Amino acid sequence: MYDLVGNIYHITKARIIDSLFVYQLRTDKRDRGSYLTRVTSFEEHQNFWERNYHNYMILWLNNKRVAYFGLVNGDFRLAILREYRGLGIGKFIVEEAKTLIGSNPILITEENKASYNLFVGQGFVVTESTPTHKVLINSEYLHQNR
Ligand SMILES: CC(C)(COP(=O)(O)OP(=O)(O)OC[C@H]1O[C@@H](n2cnc3c(N)ncnc32)[C@H](O)[C@@H]1OP(=O)(O)O)[C@@H](O)C(=O)NCCC(=O)NCCS
Repeated sequence: MYDLVGNIYHITKARIIDSLFVYQLRTDKRDRGSYLTRVTSFEEHQNFWERNYHNYMILWLNNKRVAYFGLVNGDFRLAILREYRGLGIGKFIVEEAKTLIGSNPILITEENKASYNLFVGQGFVVTESTPTHKVLINSEYLHQNR
C-alpha cells in the first residue's frame, strides 16, 4: 500500500481477469499516434494477454484499476487511465519499476512527449534516435557493458 497524491494505492500482479482493462487502455483512440501505433483486435490481445499477463502489474486506487506496467520481452510498458494522468502516478511507477527495468531500453515514439519527459525526469537518457522513435536507458547503466 502506498500513499500517493493523497490517496492509497496498491500494486498487484496482473491476472487473466485484468485483460479487458488492459485492452481498453491499449485501444483508447485518444492515444492513437502517441504510444499506440496499431489497432489490436480483442482476440489478438487476449492471445497476447494469456501468454504475457504474468509480466504485468496493476496499480489500483481503492477498488479501481488505474494503470498497468510491466517488462515484456525487454520492452517496458506503462499506461495510466486518462483521468488519472498528470498526478504523479507515472513518476511513482517508474521509480517503483527501476529495478525491474534495469538496463533494458525504453522505446518511445517521437510524438509521445509525456512519456519522454517522464523518463528523462526520472534519470533516463537518450541512446538512440530515429525519425520515429527514441531509445532511452537508465543513466545509471549507461557505462556498463550490456
Ligand atoms: C506517459 C504517462 C505514463 C505519464 O504518466 P503521468 O502519471 O501522467 O505522469 P506524471 O503525472 O507522473 O508526470 C511526470 C512527468 O511527465 C511529464 N508529463 C506528464 N504528462 C505530460 C504531458 N501531457 N505533456 C508533457 N509532459 C508530461 C512531465 O515532465 C511530468 O513531470 P512534472 O509534473 O514535474 O512536470 C501517461 O501520460 C500515459 O499513460 N500515457 C499513455 C501511455 C504511454 O504513453 N505510455 C508510455 C509508453 S513507453
